[in-house]
Amino acid sequence: MLSTPILLDYQSSTPCLEEVEISMAPYWSEIFSNPSSKSNLASINANALLEVSREKIQEYLFLQKKKVIFTSGATESNNLALLGFARNHYKETKRYGHIITLKTEHKAVLEPLDQLRKEGFQVTEICPEKDGLISKEKFISYIKNDTFLVSIMMANNEIGVIQPLKEISEICRSREIILHSDYAQCLGYIEIDNLDSLANMLTISSHKIYGPKGVGLLLVDNNIKLQPLIFGGGQEFGLRSGTLPLPLIVGFTKAIEIAVFNQKKNTEKFLFHRDKLLNGLLNNNTGVEINGSMKERLPHNLNLTILEVSGAKLHKCLKSKIICSSGSACTNGEPSHVLVALGRSFKEAEASLRLSIGLTTTIEDIEKSIQIITDTIKLLR
Ligand SMILES: Cc1ncc(COP(=O)(O)O)c(C=O)c1O
Repeated sequence: MLSTPILLDYQSSTPCLEEVEISMAPYWSEIFSNPSSKSNLASINANALLEVSREKIQEYLFLQKKKVIFTSGATESNNLALLGFARNHYKETKRYGHIITLKTEHKAVLEPLDQLRKEGFQVTEICPEKDGLISKEKFISYIKNDTFLVSIMMANNEIGVIQPLKEISEICRSREIILHSDYAQCLGYIEIDNLDSLANMLTISSHKIYGPKGVGLLLVDNNIKLQPLIFGGGQEFGLRSGTLPLPLIVGFTKAIEIAVFNQKKNTEKFLFHRDKLLNGLLNNNTGVEINGSMKERLPHNLNLTILEVSGAKLHKCLKSKIICSSGSACTNGEPSHVLVALGRSFKEAEASLRLSIGLTTTIEDIEKSIQIITDTIKLLR
């Protein structure tokens, strides 16, 4: 009989926690009124509940000077931040100006920036060092007189590296450059350290933190102006029209509360499993190389290149036994642009595994995975 594959792909998405599902339950058919139509008592109540969620999020994330804008997820938040801010910059200054990002960003940052390039803005994608990190000196060397916007993710979704965002933020602040950061992979995995001053705009996604899919956040400094992408009823400060999904927002709020509250405890568990997996694979095999810094890294991420094997065969053999990824879940099977930016050949990038550990991963899962991957490598060589 076939056993169910071991799931090591929690950076792609996570299941809803039971507490999250319970918190959402009344909002599907009992409390269902439109939170933005204030024409009846039920809607007014729904609106009050929405605002309670917004306030709770501000409290859980220790925010004092940021607006909480609900979106459909990190992709929309990144689009709103980048297109919205750059287009407003042009409206106010009649200048396109220069934007900086990293080659290793998620496509949900690179693609909107590509759109801005088509509209006339100048966009520089900096290649990080071989360990996936950007140095302060290199970053400074790319800043121009007309640089007005920087987008650098806090932690990378493929190689898990954590950028020195505090330093980048100080540099940007001293030059009055606005900083956006895709924080989608971070909440619940790293300690929150003053999000108010970490970046002017931050992107968060619910389904990466055991919340429901289809909801996310853009946290924006109160004084920042954005052009909307979606027009209509003027919800979300006029930035994102459309009826808000109250059940998803309530569930997301619960997921944020739990993620923040349990972060330290969960990190210890993730590190224990991750390091056991890494050591097991390194001790049992030759030609297994780590991608990205191990020092500045998310606790639940591993990214390995297996030398001298065919990537296609590796993934085909593992498919029924371990669910993992060769790169981002959103890039349709192309070799990872992140690994290529770090200097990996297409062949090496294909023969790479992103293994990400979840809350319910067990020590047996880790031991079995070491065995399965080791057997597969032997077979393919
Ligand atoms: C860093 C990062 N940004 C953005 C996204 C897109 O998130 P969403 O599915 O919430 O749109 C992802 C998801 O893979 C991600 O990892």
